[in-house]
Amino acid sequence: MAAIVPVPDFDAIVFGATGDLTLRKLLPALYYRFRDGQVSHRCRIIAAARSDLTDEAYRERAARALASHVAKGDLTEPACREFLALLRYARTDGAEGGDWGPLESLLREDEARVRVFYLATSPDLYGPIAANLASHGLVTPQSRIVLEKPIGHDLESARRINREVGAVFDERQIFRIDHYLGKETVQNLLALRFANILFERLWSADVIDHVQITVAETVGVEGRGNYYDHAGALRDMVQNHLLQLVCLLAMEPPLDLDADALRDEKMKVLRALRPMPAYEVPHLTVRGQYVAGAIDGKPVDSYLNDLGTNAESTTETFVALKLEVCNWRWAGVPFYLRSGKRLPSKASEIVVQFKAIPYNVFPRDAAEMRPNRLVIRLQPKEGIELQMMTKDPGPGGLRLRPADLDISFEKAFSVRYPDSYERLLMDTVRGHATLFMRRDEVETAWSWVEPILRAWEDAPEKPRPYAAGSWGPTASIALIERDGRTWHEDLG
Ligand code: BG6
Repeated sequence: MAAIVPVPDFDAIVFGATGDLTLRKLLPALYYRFRDGQVSHRCRIIAAARSDLTDEAYRERAARALASHVAKGDLTEPACREFLALLRYARTDGAEGGDWGPLESLLREDEARVRVFYLATSPDLYGPIAANLASHGLVTPQSRIVLEKPIGHDLESARRINREVGAVFDERQIFRIDHYLGKETVQNLLALRFANILFERLWSADVIDHVQITVAETVGVEGRGNYYDHAGALRDMVQNHLLQLVCLLAMEPPLDLDADALRDEKMKVLRALRPMPAYEVPHLTVRGQYVAGAIDGKPVDSYLNDLGTNAESTTETFVALKLEVCNWRWAGVPFYLRSGKRLPSKASEIVVQFKAIPYNVFPRDAAEMRPNRLVIRLQPKEGIELQMMTKDPGPGGLRLRPADLDISFEKAFSVRYPDSYERLLMDTVRGHATLFMRRDEVETAWSWVEPILRAWEDAPEKPRPYAAGSWGPTASIALIERDGRTWHEDLG
């Protein structure tokens, strides 16, 4: 049973409180932390948005959101009622300095407690909201600001946001969320690597042939077309989530889990990524866009139709690429990354493929030797699988066959996996920044991604079509197969 450590009383002020992220993720996450006794009755969740709503009207919306996004058995009437009582509504136009009266008067009631300003808005508003918080005198020493990804649209806009928010808040008060870092299984990468001697000694180009990271989704753009069409898979998934996974896999052991110790090591990985010159982009990356197809036997529309009638777009909904981490540990080990919408299953997985044995002492007909493979399943069916060669039991000579050492976390621990926002929100209240991105990480990740974006913009060819329900354009299979390797198939 996990220990629940209560956090200090806080005011969470959520800008963008009527938006999808707040209703789908933040309120359910806060509900769970309240239900489990981590958040006290004295905390307040102040919903700030432009609509003209009363506390009661907002609570009704929140109640509907909880009913849709909290598992049935977990939403009990008394807990729900008590949780809704923590909610207040303050009509606020974050970008305009005008009428901030309702928010100001709520916050003046207690100036000493922790304040978490959560910006669940478009990134263009991060700078203006920070400036307005400052001009209304609402930033106290106990304040933190939480910025949702994407931090900007490219390096320049990310720098601008960091500069504008940094003019009001100290870096230690700024929490840039990458919700992948809040996933239990992603944190488990730290345990796998640094709480066991087994793998760390093998964790290098000496014995690792290559690494694959797949983050596959069945969903399409789900009403987020406006945002997504300006982003695309490279900005939406690779610049943050997938590069963060690369960092955790490839970094050196940090001195401890102090925020800067860990982030210093991640930064070294980002700086070691080999820059991709424009002429290599067509060879090392593949971008695709889904066309109509079927998932689980159900017909699925094309991306363009999902966007709306007569839409035209060259935004990629799939990306695959090959990168290298240029340092002593990883030189020569390719990392293959792929992520896309409308793929056959929802599955996030890391595959560490070891090299073949140097010499085979077994008879040729004993079996086809398969190199060891460590599969880290991030979601669903969270767990770890180590593929090994073993003796085929029984008489008939020494025959071999591959078998899996398979640890399913669900079976091993039989607990509910908390949503990543639960952990991350509580970390912001405590002021623990280890699982958040530092300014230099975000900017360095953009610097690496940007030449790819520019090369794509300049290229005459459009993203390659792939049928919804397939594993992306065939060129993404060619990307890995021309190196004599294959994507791990048994996903999800
Ligand atoms: C978000 C992206 O950051 O991550 C979405 O903006 C994507 O497009 C989502 O669907 C995937 O997160 P998860 O936790 O479902 O893998």
